[in-house]
Amino acid sequence: MKNIKNLIEKLYFQSNLTDDELIILLTQRKSDDSEYLYELARKRQAEHYGNKVFIRGLVETSSYCKNDCFYCGLRRSNKCAQRYRLSKEQILSCCDEGHPLGFRTFVLQGGEDTFYTDNVLCDIISSIKNKYSDCAVTLSLGERSFESYKKLFEAGADRYLLRHETASPEHYSKLHPGEMSYNNRMECIKNLKSIGFQTGCGFMVGTPFQTMENIVRDLRFIKTFAPHMVGIGPFIAHHDTPFKDERQGSSELTLFLIAVIRLLLPAILLPATTALGTASKDGREKGVLAGANVLMPNLSPKDVRDKYLLYDNKLNSGEEAAENIRRLKQSIKDIGYEIVTDRGDSKAE
Ligand code: 5AD
Repeated sequence: MKNIKNLIEKLYFQSNLTDDELIILLTQRKSDDSEYLYELARKRQAEHYGNKVFIRGLVETSSYCKNDCFYCGLRRSNKCAQRYRLSKEQILSCCDEGHPLGFRTFVLQGGEDTFYTDNVLCDIISSIKNKYSDCAVTLSLGERSFESYKKLFEAGADRYLLRHETASPEHYSKLHPGEMSYNNRMECIKNLKSIGFQTGCGFMVGTPFQTMENIVRDLRFIKTFAPHMVGIGPFIAHHDTPFKDERQGSSELTLFLIAVIRLLLPAILLPATTALGTASKDGREKGVLAGANVLMPNLSPKDVRDKYLLYDNKLNSGEEAAENIRRLKQSIKDIGYEIVTDRGDSKAE
């Protein structure tokens, strides 16, 4: 049996492991192994980003969604969900609020809402970029055509987040209705990168039916695809979805995977996600200490925040709220890191 410590060192020095070694690492790890892994992940993080942590202002643009993913509270079949969509003016005023707080990246995230045509989005993107030329715009608006992505890029969007959700086709089909396609999702992610976006993929930890083999496939996909950003967070059930009775994903495994991903791709941007903060006390801080270097406080208008519910108990106040950035800065300082006012571009190729 391979010694776990040796595997962690191999991962650190070679930025890679075989699939068999990854399985051993994930299934045979003990709690005292994680501290060592986190320490090496922090070293790699420091080589590329020092002790800097980047922040993104998250604007949740719409709770309408044409998709019906089994895990998500915004799925179209959820008749109890409260739906809203933000106008261009509302989105711009979120940016107006965020800029003086130090945000230099705005993330427009929303369900797949057909209201936002290419023209509507291009107008919003170019308005933000004209007003705030020192800022990056990140989109997280789901699957669109190649031509659409290209127009959004040409309108000035810098980055795009589209989690792959799972790199195993058979697992994908257990999380999504038959009308949704694994191949199309992967195609979209590849298109985004080829168009020139700083591209993010990612997956949930502990979704129903997920095996360690599935997770290894996710890690292999991430290593091979080499995105600029990777977002992972624990699955958390939403009470009005088919997965309402499913158990929550492990925060501990999520932290372990954040560190593994930092070592696989040392220069990428890795957020400590809201789901991680929701699932575990001090989840965000623990995420940073495991190798994460991005936080995404909520900059949405306050009256819509409790309507954008992907899962139960989603944090949207306290340090999760952009207006409380001072408190977040302090708690990050307390663990030896510094939140900076910076676009925070990826140092990954
Ligand atoms: N628990 C955790 N994360 C979720 N997401 C959607 N639903 C849930 C849930 N129930 C994640 C998906 C999606 C991102 C925006 O939020 O990975 O890509």
